[in-house]
Amino acid sequence: MPFYTRLGEVPHKRHTQFRKADGSLYAEEVMGLEGFHGIQSLLYHHFLPPAVLRSELLGPAKPTYVDFGAIRHRALQTVDMPAGGDAVAARRVLLGNNDVTLGISRPTSSMTYFYRNAQAYEVWFVHEGKGTFRSQFGKMPFEAGDYIVIPYGTTWQLLLHSAECRFFVIESNSQIAPPKRYRNEYGQLLENSPYSERDLRPPQELETIVEQGEFEVRIKVRDSITRHILSHHPFDVVGWDGYLYPWIFNIRDFEPITGRVPQPPPVHQTFEGMNFVVCSFVPRLFDYHPLSIPAPYNHSNVNSDEVIYYCDGNFMSRKGIDRYDITLHPFGLPHGPQPGMTEASIGATKTEELAVMVDTFHPLHLTTDALEIEKTEYQASWLA
Ligand SMILES: [Fe+2]
Repeated sequence: MPFYTRLGEVPHKRHTQFRKADGSLYAEEVMGLEGFHGIQSLLYHHFLPPAVLRSELLGPAKPTYVDFGAIRHRALQTVDMPAGGDAVAARRVLLGNNDVTLGISRPTSSMTYFYRNAQAYEVWFVHEGKGTFRSQFGKMPFEAGDYIVIPYGTTWQLLLHSAECRFFVIESNSQIAPPKRYRNEYGQLLENSPYSERDLRPPQELETIVEQGEFEVRIKVRDSITRHILSHHPFDVVGWDGYLYPWIFNIRDFEPITGRVPQPPPVHQTFEGMNFVVCSFVPRLFDYHPLSIPAPYNHSNVNSDEVIYYCDGNFMSRKGIDRYDITLHPFGLPHGPQPGMTEASIGATKTEELAVMVDTFHPLHLTTDALEIEKTEYQASWLA
């Protein structure tokens, strides 16, 4: 994360003796990205982090993709995707490539085990529901509109405080962070960034659970899931500090950038990863030139596939698209408002739309789960 954070007790000097009340040493752990060259944190554990009673391979965890067929715009209707189970078990990948996967999760129960994705960053966008995100860095309440950003290697658990939650899930082989162009050379977010440090929520409350027994952690790495049974609770941290930790940003804290004429799509950018960006479309005023056209112009996103997850509001430029739908506008053909939508938009002064967009710089593939919910009539919606 872009700023230094500290929670709980840490010794004054790193890598020195730090003792418990009984005189024994806490176990120090450095958790750092890119071979200790990237962001990192120092954690102080009650128990030895590598203490594992048993390990077992549970199976492969790599999505399988289908042949895309003729290039065309596609729409997926996720409203009735199966709900049930915990957040990790309920996740269904719909689209993906070597950089990123996109999916939906509709859990109805809290996790009873812990999860650690050691090969990917994850962003859980909370469309509906609320709960608590727990990790060794502390716990964070979450609600609708939150992007929960989880670094590689974080051990976490998601508890539901509503009967159901609905998430749009982004899994990335690379780090996900605020765009570099929003930050100065010291990492601080600039005045013209659409959000500031005050909008980013690190863990506020540490959970230090000094408990021995058997605790299950499912680890995703090497495209497989391994089950580890730890001899102690994974949230045994008495304190930590550094730049590496999960954090939350709510989409409604994104301040839209508008102008007299349409602003280009990058004004909506929220996060960046390797070969993809995440953008937020939020309620905003439309352009204020006297001859302005609120509907977007046709565009050929020549080097990027464009995915939009429609959350709330009225998506005036998209005919036949409903809440919970996902559209994929692949590169290779232009797209824009359907017939009549441009003229119909004139005079509108504001929009209440809320949507998450992911643009990928390499083509996305579909899974069989995606084919089952495809609105096959979507490409024909541009015919008069
Ligand atoms: Fe577009």
